[in-house]
Amino acid sequence: MLENRRILLIVAGGIAAVKAPDLIRRLRERGASVRCILTKAGAHFVTPLTLAALSGDKCYQDLFDLKDEAEMGHIRLSREADIILVAPATADIMAKMVAGQADDLATTALLATDKPVMIAPSMNVMMWTHPATQANLATLKSRDVRVVGPSAGDLACGEVGNGRMAEVPEIIAALTRFFQKTEGEGPLKGLRALVTSGPTHEPIDPVRYIANRSSGKQGHAVAVALAELGASVTLVAGPTQEADPDGVNVIHVETAKQMMKACSEALPCDIAVCAAAVADWSPEKALQKMKKEPGKTPSLTLSENPDILATLSQPGPTRPQLVVGFAAETENLIENAKAKRAKKKCDWVVANDVSPGSGAFGGDSNTVHLVTGTGVESWPTLRKRAVAERLAERIATSFQRQ
Ligand code: PMT
Repeated sequence: MLENRRILLIVAGGIAAVKAPDLIRRLRERGASVRCILTKAGAHFVTPLTLAALSGDKCYQDLFDLKDEAEMGHIRLSREADIILVAPATADIMAKMVAGQADDLATTALLATDKPVMIAPSMNVMMWTHPATQANLATLKSRDVRVVGPSAGDLACGEVGNGRMAEVPEIIAALTRFFQKTEGEGPLKGLRALVTSGPTHEPIDPVRYIANRSSGKQGHAVAVALAELGASVTLVAGPTQEADPDGVNVIHVETAKQMMKACSEALPCDIAVCAAAVADWSPEKALQKMKKEPGKTPSLTLSENPDILATLSQPGPTRPQLVVGFAAETENLIENAKAKRAKKKCDWVVANDVSPGSGAFGGDSNTVHLVTGTGVESWPTLRKRAVAERLAERIATSFQRQ
């Protein structure tokens, strides 16, 4: 998908600029051509020589460079690309894009372009969550700027939180998805997929809730992998730190009942993958904050939540052709997964060991077994993204056979 694509990479001034050389290498490996604009601030982190050497092209820096203007010109530079990628996109360049400011080569190219733009934000967590940045982000999205990341984790400033630039493979995947979508390509083209992801929060009172340790990493990766194969994906996400994947329709919910409602509204679809860790029960919610009274231990009255997977699997006109559940088990993994498949009447179950130490809940890797109507496939331990890609490929193959 990236073969012969022309990418204008704008490297702005953040520590994540050090990922630019690897990004260029990986893009070129896939057959894309990369031309770089390096901002003045970006040049504090990576040299123009490095970007020029790796891209095999000149690295453009100065709006008022007479030679560059005569040879190429900033307008041509901004138009001779299939997409402009800003990575890293700092809070500053995002604000300038919103304001339409054009005080250097990068911002001028962004204002002058008639091509699609994708940004990979990278900044301190407080800068990212600041209402100004979030408002800028919303404005950019409303102007059809694609956004990849950021993700949560350790930040270069020493703080922890959202603001890490998406990793190189995620940026490559987002670009691939973008080009696939513009061309309407991929083996799942024309199919609709519904994916659930993350935990649900079940309120106890206005300030407390019951939750679980699901991060949404696995479910979000499944949504991305299906979209990459051309499916039109709706992702119903419980509360997570994961960024909304670009090119996927994301519906945010909090409780199991809200998740059920959002899933029902997303029907009809061809494929459903239930990767969310939905709370089985919800407490009777107190209208006011429960008061602590000395010597008294409150008890919670729980009622059963709707089972989304079982509901979607029920025979009927809106049943997706393929319904896939996940089974989170701490013992007798495969036997319990087989029993879950029979009980919930879904087609496949992805069984994962979530016992303490497995790292499946919240971690980056997963060891799964795919239980279908014809047998059990045990996959090696893989990154969650690789699990998702393999599952999406299996889904595509099953539709091709049909
Ligand atoms: O989010 P991560 O940190 O990346 O972790 C991934 C994961 C471990 C959460 C994921 O891989 C996983 O196993 N998800 C299913 C967790 C779960 O709730 O398993 P379960 O065995 O309790 O439920 C079985 C299936 O029924 C699941 O598909 C679940 O989405 C579904 N279910 C459960 C209860 C309910 N009320 N409605 C449902 O749809």
